[in-house]
Amino acid sequence: MLLHLSTWAEVEQFLKRSRVIVVPIGSNEQHGPTGLLGTDWLCPEIIAREAEKTADILVAPTFNIGMAQHHLGFPGTISLRPSTFIAAIGDWTRSLVGHGFEKILFLNGHGGNVASIDAAFSEIYAEASFSRRRAGFALKLCNWWDLAGVNELAREQFPTGHGSHATPSEIAITQWAFPGAVKSAGYAPQIAPSGPIREALDFRARFPDGRIGSDPGQATPEKGRALVELAAQSLARELEAFGCEPMTL
Ligand code: NI
Repeated sequence: MLLHLSTWAEVEQFLKRSRVIVVPIGSNEQHGPTGLLGTDWLCPEIIAREAEKTADILVAPTFNIGMAQHHLGFPGTISLRPSTFIAAIGDWTRSLVGHGFEKILFLNGHGGNVASIDAAFSEIYAEASFSRRRAGFALKLCNWWDLAGVNELAREQFPTGHGSHATPSEIAITQWAFPGAVKSAGYAPQIAPSGPIREALDFRARFPDGRIGSDPGQATPEKGRALVELAAQSLARELEAFGCEPMTL
C-alpha cells in the first residue's frame, strides 16, 4: 500500500492491522557522467515499491532530499544541511507517531545521510528520555545495500570497480526501473579514484566526473533486476521481523 495513493480512512484501517511503515529516504545529487541525479532516492523507492507488490506493507512518500553538501559543485544537486535534515526527519517521525505508527523503518539510499539520520533518531528519543517516559515507538535505519544478501550479490556482480559513489549496483537498479533514461558516456579512468570527502570544491577537484572508486560501465538493467528482486524480498522479511520485535523491555 502506497501512502500517497491512499485515503486517510484507508490508513486508519491499515493501522488496525499493522503499526509498521517504511520511509524511503535518499538524496538528489550528482552520480557521475551517467548516473541519474535521483539515484539515491530512486533506489530505496524502487525496492520498497517492489516489496509492496506482494507484501502487506505501507510505504510512505520518499524523503528525497538529503545531506549532500559535498556534491553541490555539480549542477542539479539539492542538499539540506545536517541540522535542517535532522529537524525535518524529526517532524516526519512525529507526524507518523502521532497517528499511531510504532515501528518506522527508514530505507536509506545515501551513505552521506547515515550520520544525520542516526543523530535525528537520538534527538527524537531524547524527547522521551529527558521527560523519563517510554517513547512508545521504535526507529530503524536500514541502507538498501545492507538488506540480507544484497551486498553479497553486488560483490558477485561487480568484483572490481564497485566503488562507493555512482556505483554500478545503484545505477543498474535505476536502469532496470527507468530503461528510457539509461545514459552512456566514456569513463576516464575506467575506475574512478578514491579519497576523503570534504566540501564541494575539494570534492570536485578530487573526483572531477563525480564518481568515487567506481566503474558504472558494468551496470546493466538485468543486474539491476536481480538486485531489486532480492532487496525487495529481504525488505519484506526485515519489516516483518521489525514488526514482531517487542516494543519495550
Ligand atoms: Ni548513490
